[in-house]
Amino acid sequence: MSTSRIFDDYTPKMKTKSRAYLYWNYSRAKLGFPAVFLFCFLFFIAGFLSSSLRSQSQKEVSGVRQRGRQLDSVEYDLMAHGKTGDDSISIIPFQVISWRPRAFYFPKFATPEQCRHIINMARSNLEPSKLALRKGESEKPQNVRTSMGTFLSASQDGTGVLDAIEEKIARATKLPRTHYEDFNVLRYELGQKYDSHLDAFPPEHYGPQKSQRVATFLVYLSDVEEGGETAFPYENGLSMDGSFDFKKCIGLKVKPRMGDGFLFYSLYPNNTIDPISLHGSCPVIKGEKWVVTKWIRDQQSPF
Ligand SMILES: *[C@@H]1O[C@H](CO)[C@@H](O)[C@H](O)[C@H]1NC(C)=O
Repeated sequence: MSTSRIFDDYTPKMKTKSRAYLYWNYSRAKLGFPAVFLFCFLFFIAGFLSSSLRSQSQKEVSGVRQRGRQLDSVEYDLMAHGKTGDDSISIIPFQVISWRPRAFYFPKFATPEQCRHIINMARSNLEPSKLALRKGESEKPQNVRTSMGTFLSASQDGTGVLDAIEEKIARATKLPRTHYEDFNVLRYELGQKYDSHLDAFPPEHYGPQKSQRVATFLVYLSDVEEGGETAFPYENGLSMDGSFDFKKCIGLKVKPRMGDGFLFYSLYPNNTIDPISLHGSCPVIKGEKWVVTKWIRDQQSPF
């Protein structure tokens, strides 16, 4: 039996439970008064510690940000794996944010060092972000997507950080790296935003597609003091009657926080486009937003 290996810094450590065997007959024969006293004392200390821990966690729950339940320490046994499988168990904590859109939050997906590294790689190559052109459109100045950005591939990064992030995205999404576009690093400064849009390409607007975007995985690389949320105005079918202003920041909002991952699907399981995956990036009100996007396709690269 092999014990599973930890996959990265943020996964909870797996512990082996310590076992304490106490043989009553043995203890009764040998324990004198000092030992009994010592036992009582230890029980008192243990009780005191556990109650103070409990009140600590209650304080955190009443704080601004609710603390999720800690994962139990469990020991896992590995299964025999195939040629392309892992010899370790991955634990990647996540929260279902919504089923409409299908959206999942991965707290502390990347480390602060990894985030800073990606920002530094991207910083010197930023250009105004572009829009995918619809049928009959040509490129022109626009006020829909005002961020700056650049594309980076995992192979460009000799330190292996982008490679590690891409591997982890593959484990989190269970979708293979052969279907990934390059990383798109984006910077939104004060007032910059991306109006609501679909990441998938509806053929009625963009013509027939050789491959379609299935899902999007974002890693927020910075905290943003105010604004900059990823917003889904059609959450749970609301505001879909045509009355909704595409420039408004309404609906389900995900606040960017350094290192957090966020996954949503643009297609239904039957491969048609989910209109509720419509989303945008709210204007940054205070601070600066850095995010890296990984678009995942239904066909293998090159697309
Ligand atoms: C695909 O799935 C969606 C959601 O379940 C459904 O509304 C839609 O009608 C389906 N489309 C097709 C072509 O099956």
